[in-house]
Amino acid sequence: MGFLRGVPPNTATLTMQAEFGDVYQYWIGPLRVIGVCNVEDIQYIFAHRHIYEKSSSHMDRLRVFLPDSLVSTTGANYKRHATIVLSLFRGAKVLSNLHLIYDCTDKLLDVWRSQADDPSYIHLDMVKDCQNLLLDIFGFIGFDYDLQTLGNDDSSQSNRLKKSLKDYLDVIALALLLPVTIAKIYVKFNSRYRQALNVIREYTDRIIEQEQSKGSETILERKRKCLIASLVGSRQQDEKIELALPEEKRKGLSSKEIFEEILLFLVAGSETTSTALSWFIHLTSKNPRVQAKIKAELGDNRQHYLSIEQLDSLEYLDCVIQEVLRFVPPAISTIRSVTSDDRLPASGAQLYKDDEVIINIYNLTRDKRYWKIDPDLFYPERFQGEDKDHHPFTLIPFGGGHRQCIGQDLARFELKAIIARLMQRVTFGDGGPQNHLKLSHADYNPPESISFSNQLQLLAEVDHLS
Ligand code: HEM
Repeated sequence: MGFLRGVPPNTATLTMQAEFGDVYQYWIGPLRVIGVCNVEDIQYIFAHRHIYEKSSSHMDRLRVFLPDSLVSTTGANYKRHATIVLSLFRGAKVLSNLHLIYDCTDKLLDVWRSQADDPSYIHLDMVKDCQNLLLDIFGFIGFDYDLQTLGNDDSSQSNRLKKSLKDYLDVIALALLLPVTIAKIYVKFNSRYRQALNVIREYTDRIIEQEQSKGSETILERKRKCLIASLVGSRQQDEKIELALPEEKRKGLSSKEIFEEILLFLVAGSETTSTALSWFIHLTSKNPRVQAKIKAELGDNRQHYLSIEQLDSLEYLDCVIQEVLRFVPPAISTIRSVTSDDRLPASGAQLYKDDEVIINIYNLTRDKRYWKIDPDLFYPERFQGEDKDHHPFTLIPFGGGHRQCIGQDLARFELKAIIARLMQRVTFGDGGPQNHLKLSHADYNPPESISFSNQLQLLAEVDHLS
């Protein structure tokens, strides 16, 4: 597939589809997987959850790091975790966080302003700043806790958390590619990983302590609104008794499960959304026309926070966010295990129990059969015109079926609120090649090199400093 030569995974899967068709198989080390690229078969897979369950091989790998969290469970165990966290990030529940998101975005704008020698021209590491912003926001929304990740002070306490999360993710990124037994040994003897976990544990202990200090009545009241209250409020009275029960009878979460859930959400709640935000900044810095249209839709109001209704009315901005998620989906694929022999309806491909199926989210977004306007173009207007009625399963940045992303409503809402606020105050400009970091594998040339997004550095020009 060319991975070792530096071919990004999304380019490899496009090449394989072009060469072998909509369904093909390949090996990742000893693991045989079947890639699926056509929309009908993908819709079918998501609709048949009794045949296509969350991938067991992927969960075996995840269990090396998070053996007791929602992502690595199925069946009754999954239901027990899901009832405690699932509803908290759905629909109307996320709307109450609007001002908090604006406040954090303003904090970031203040940091940028304080870094500017020349107030009309600031050179920034946008990827890092987007990560810090989303982490800060999630600290408040999920844990009611100020993680203080926004700021210049590199020696600060919060910097320990940022560094530890980065170390933790770097180790995981490598270990996920290894066979499970080797990954376990690698993680066990990796001092960087263990140190990172110790620091993260310090933070999670403080987050839990702060919540517990509110008293059991308040926790009970907040349980339906806030993740941390729901987690702390569901702590099992006697873990040994619960553990002795059959899976279906267990209730609540053990202390270890609560720790892992917080860790999972620290990562899942910020990484992907910040990737999408970084891509928004990058793509609009290259497309001033799109920025101008967003600003026109925002009108003259450059100062005041927009209300929910005003935010809701920004239809062009919705199209831009859709287009960012289509053009550079933060997750390019997801995976399912086949639990009994089955045949895919459109391609006719025969699958067998225990096969692993890769759903190619990225390929769907680039398939000319499904998009009337050239899918290789970044063109938000497609969602107002020819591509408005695209097949719903051709754009699935959050996956699909019963294990689809639980944070999608929050992510879309965060993106819209942050971008609207940024566009009220800032214009992003392309600083030219001299201001971009040299990419290690390939020079940036969309769409092929999206997997190296974290190495891009962008230039922001502040057009409004007040
Ligand atoms: C733009 C932002 C995001 C993108 C593109 C994204 C994408 C995804 C994708 C593709 C999956 C796999 C779904 C499947 O297999 O069908 C997933 C799962 C998940 N996401 Fe997100 N996500 C985002 C934001 C978030 C946020 C903000 C949270 C937390 C609040 C979150 C929490 C999770 C969790 C916990 C899972 C695992 C669900 C399960 O195993 O049942 N995600 N996400």
